[in-house]
Amino acid sequence: MGGKIGLLKRSRRYLIPLILVLVVLGSAKVFGWPWSTDMMEQPSIKPYELPLPYPLYSISTDGTIVGIGPRQGFEGITQNPVNPTEASLQNGQRLFINFCAPCHGPQGKGDGPVIKKGFYPVDLTAPGTQARTDGYIFAYIQYGGIVMMPSYRESISSHQAWEVVNYVRKLQGKLSTKEETNQ
Ligand code: HEC
Repeated sequence: MGGKIGLLKRSRRYLIPLILVLVVLGSAKVFGWPWSTDMMEQPSIKPYELPLPYPLYSISTDGTIVGIGPRQGFEGITQNPVNPTEASLQNGQRLFINFCAPCHGPQGKGDGPVIKKGFYPVDLTAPGTQARTDGYIFAYIQYGGIVMMPSYRESISSHQAWEVVNYVRKLQGKLSTKEETNQ
């Protein structure tokens, strides 16, 4: 009997340190220590990391190209398969303003706000780009640049990319005859 009370008294001495230890450990669990990186080390895709490629033999549900074939396969296409109707050109313009104008400028002249911060300017209305095939411009949107332009395959479907190509042709002043024949 006396032994039990003695044990209780002795263990009291350890009670406060024990509570302190529990509080410290508990707060570590809730707030995390600076060296705890569990939340950072996830299988998710980090900024500037390339997205995972589609699994082999994936089949598209909406007709977009899922596999990445060689870009040269597209560069030979001389005729845009999408008719530059007014509605389609409006889509092309909207996409161009959202995705391309930051670098290439709203008129494609290579004077977008990003360029003013020191990025390499590319005028899409210059004779060099005017002479490119429709497929070459399409491939640029789908695959990205050879030097540093990003790929827009994740945000712009292949149909939309052809609409952007038509809009680029419009900015180049090369669409007028096509537009009339197709409407
Ligand atoms: C982050 C800036 C940036 C954005 C946004 C951007 N581009 Fe580019 N673009 C470049 C740079 C830089 C080059 C040239 C170097 C290279 O190949 O990366 C280029 C090159 C091109 C070329 C090749 C021109 C030629 O004659 O060889 C085309 C076509 C083009 N871009 C179209 C587009 C279109 C269409 C969009 C929107 C979907 C777009 N770009 C968005 C920076 C950009």
